[in-house]
Amino acid sequence: MKTHSTVNPLPPNRSASIIGTGSHVPERVLTNAELESMVETNHQWIVERTGIVERRIAADGECTSHMAAEAARQAMKNAGVAPAEIDLILVATITPDTVFPSTACHVQRHIGAVNAACMDVNAACSGFLYCVEIARQFIANRAAETVLVIGADKLSSIVNWQDRNTCVLFGDGAGAAILRHNPESRGIIATYMGSDGNHADILHMPGGGCAIPITRENVDAKLNTLQMNGRETFKQAVTSMMRAANIVLERTGLSPDDIHCVIPHQANIRIIEAMAERMGIGMDRFHINLEKYGNTSAAAVAIALDEAARSGRLHRGAPVLLVVFGGGLTYASSIIEW
Ligand code: ACO
Repeated sequence: MKTHSTVNPLPPNRSASIIGTGSHVPERVLTNAELESMVETNHQWIVERTGIVERRIAADGECTSHMAAEAARQAMKNAGVAPAEIDLILVATITPDTVFPSTACHVQRHIGAVNAACMDVNAACSGFLYCVEIARQFIANRAAETVLVIGADKLSSIVNWQDRNTCVLFGDGAGAAILRHNPESRGIIATYMGSDGNHADILHMPGGGCAIPITRENVDAKLNTLQMNGRETFKQAVTSMMRAANIVLERTGLSPDDIHCVIPHQANIRIIEAMAERMGIGMDRFHINLEKYGNTSAAAVAIALDEAARSGRLHRGAPVLLVVFGGGLTYASSIIEW
């Protein structure tokens, strides 16, 4: 007689690969020079302290889901995947179109992915890698064949445009990836995800949830805008991104020298320089685009990945390290065989 385990064996796990990427940023460019007329700041300070030269700002009515859908269309085209083939849509965002339905459901409607289950993930700037790992597990467990992962944010909608400490840093955009099993590639080799809720207050939007609901007083006090302790965030960013990078390197048995390209969260050039120095990896191996877009939160690493892939910078079979950090605190890293 057959035992239960032989009658209904667990299927072996399988790898998941990124088979196509896409990205989209709004047309409107907001330069440092324009910010000089909005708050007491100057181009030189912004460039020296952050590396940011300009950022993109979505138009009124141009929502997170619209940018996400455009990035998704490009990723589907790049992967040769039709909307109806998508089983699952995961959108990483902290600026959803609506509290509910999820932005993923709005994206589903825009692109006609009628067979997909949809949900959002809130892990701030780390959200795209969190979603990539969730997608990998669905594919590994054969719970999904084709997953659309999107990082998208319209941070301009939650920035306090009178606060020079934060308003110069952020921009809007979306990046997307299609994941599937590819028998010819190891795909996502290892991922690490971490969080530290004890540091929740250093980077957050206090109002708008049930703790501090939207009232006239709370809106007047700007509690529905992003608030940040910049110096502390900077320190935590370097520490936690280094921790995440070291853990995936250890798990894969790779050394920094083996990494072909590092795609980091695009928050501040000085954070990336600190990482490059500590890892002993030259800045020329980091893909950086923050000078054009600023920090686009969950979209940042996804847009950078798409740009790096399209520019031919990522070579088939070469290990790519993605490493991110965001409010929560949250952080994550992945090593992918491209
Ligand atoms: N223009 C001119 N001066 C400014 C500006 C500005 N836009 N912003 C701050 N200053 C001033 C400050 O008021 C301060 O003046 P003071 O010395 O008279 O008090 C001075 O510049 C230095 O301020 P610091 O905060 O010490 O400047 P710092 O070198 O730390 O740079 C920055 C600030 C750019 C915010 C940096 O701390 C940083 O990048 N932190 C990390 C931010 C980050 O990564 N956030 C996103 C995380 S991802 C997510 O989940 C959204």
